[in-house]
Amino acid sequence: MPTIAVVSQKGGSGKTTLALHLATCATYDGRKSCVIDMDPQATAAAWGDWRGDYLPEVITCPPVRLVSTILKATRGGSEILVIDTPPQSDMASREAARAADLILIPTRTRAFDLHALEATSELVKYARKPAFVLLNAVPARATRLLEETAGLVGGHGLEVCPVHFGERAAFHRASASGEVASEVEPEGKAAGEADALWDWVSERLGLAPVT
Ligand SMILES: Nc1ncnc2c1ncn2[C@@H]1O[C@H](COP(=O)(O)OP(=O)(O)O)[C@@H](O)[C@H]1O
Ligand SMILES: [Mg+2]
Repeated sequence: MPTIAVVSQKGGSGKTTLALHLATCATYDGRKSCVIDMDPQATAAAWGDWRGDYLPEVITCPPVRLVSTILKATRGGSEILVIDTPPQSDMASREAARAADLILIPTRTRAFDLHALEATSELVKYARKPAFVLLNAVPARATRLLEETAGLVGGHGLEVCPVHFGERAAFHRASASGEVASEVEPEGKAAGEADALWDWVSERLGLAPVT
C-alpha cells in the first residue's frame, strides 16, 4: 500500500494542511485514500468531521495502533495512505516514517523552523526511506530565500522537493471549512501547487495512471 508520512518536529509547519491536500488530490485522481491522524490534537480528524461524508476518510490512531490501523484501512479498500503526525513526538514520527514509502517534511523558510529541521532529519534518517523537505508558505518573489534554504536543507543531508507551496490564504481558508484549496478556489495558485505536488508524489511512488 503506497504510504506517505508527513513529519516535522515543528508545530505549525503545515503537516496537516499538506496531508489533507495530498489525500484529497488522490481522491480526485480516482484513488481511494485515507488520512491516518496520529496527532493527539486530532486536527485532521476535526477537518474530516467538518467535511462530513466527502472523502478522504480520516481516522485517528495512537502510535501503538499504527500497524493495525494500516491493515484496517487496507481491508477497507484504501489505495493510498497519508499519515499526519504530531510535532515533538519521536515515537509517532518514527513509527510513521517506518511505515512509509515516502516521507515529506514541510517546513517554513524562517530561521526557527529551519533550525528544527535538524531534529527531524535525525529522526527520518533512521527510517532509511526517501525523504524530501517541502518548503511551505514561501513568501512571494523569494527566489534568493529559496536558494539559501535549499542549501541549508542539503546541509542536513536532506533533499528539497521540487514543488513548494507559497503563502496562500486559500490553504488556510479551505482547511477551516473542511475543504481543500481546489474546492474554495479552483483556479487559484494553491490548488495548482497541491496538484503539482500530487503529480510529483504519484510519479515518485510509481503509481500507474488511473484509466
Ligand atoms: N502554504 C500555506 N499558506 C498559508 N497558510 C498555511 C500554509 N500552510 C499552512 N498554513 C496555515 O498554517 C497553520 C498551521 O498549519 P498546519 O497544517 O496545521 O501545521 P501543522 O500540522 O504542522 O501544525 C494553519 O492555520 C494553516 O491553515
Ligand atoms: Mg497538525
